[in-house]
Amino acid sequence: MQLFLDSTDIVQIEDLAKTGLVDGVTTNPTLIAKSGRNMLEVIADICRIVDGPVSAEVSSVTTEGMLAEGRKLAGIAPNVVVKVPLTREGLMATSEFAAEGIQTNVTLCFSAAQALLAAKAGATYVSPFIGRLDDHGAEGMDLITEIRAIYDNYDFDTEILAASIRSASHVKEAALSGADCATIPPDVFEALFKHPLTERGLQQFMADWAKTGQSIL
Ligand code: E4P
Repeated sequence: MQLFLDSTDIVQIEDLAKTGLVDGVTTNPTLIAKSGRNMLEVIADICRIVDGPVSAEVSSVTTEGMLAEGRKLAGIAPNVVVKVPLTREGLMATSEFAAEGIQTNVTLCFSAAQALLAAKAGATYVSPFIGRLDDHGAEGMDLITEIRAIYDNYDFDTEILAASIRSASHVKEAALSGADCATIPPDVFEALFKHPLTERGLQQFMADWAKTGQSIL
């Protein structure tokens, strides 16, 4: 399973990239606004840190506008993935991007039927939003299971990118449900390393080791 960071925070991206466990990065207009920086510069900076896919979202709502913006974004670096909303216009742009060899991440997916259309349009990734579905009173993770079954039934190559992840449990459940990737906020990524029994066990081992008076080196 590929693990992406859902962030525009360069310091946090640099820090977590050092672990060797970050396969890519996703951004969205809200995260760009949060950075307070020029989008083209932020995406270029992220692409310098991470070799894997870096999603950059279009802000136009027309197919022509998305195509123009997407081509510009794709020109920033070879690892840019153009993020397109799951609308009729967005899927028309997705088909054209596929024909041009530009990778896409179809975002704001909230139903399996939408995900079917994204795959037929030739999306590289589809992003089902788990947390927002949970907030809406639905069982977000069921969507991953449904999309996995549909994509396997028809051998679609589109990768399922679990998004709107809110907890370490979400990451585990997305992995169990067959998501190809998950995009994770930095604080949740940090939480993946931790378990109270790991900390307690390590303290115990260190205390007992100190009693031996030994040194390995
Ligand atoms: C996905 O690509 C989005 O950027 C993100 O996961 C949305 O998460 P949110 O629902 O926490 O805003």
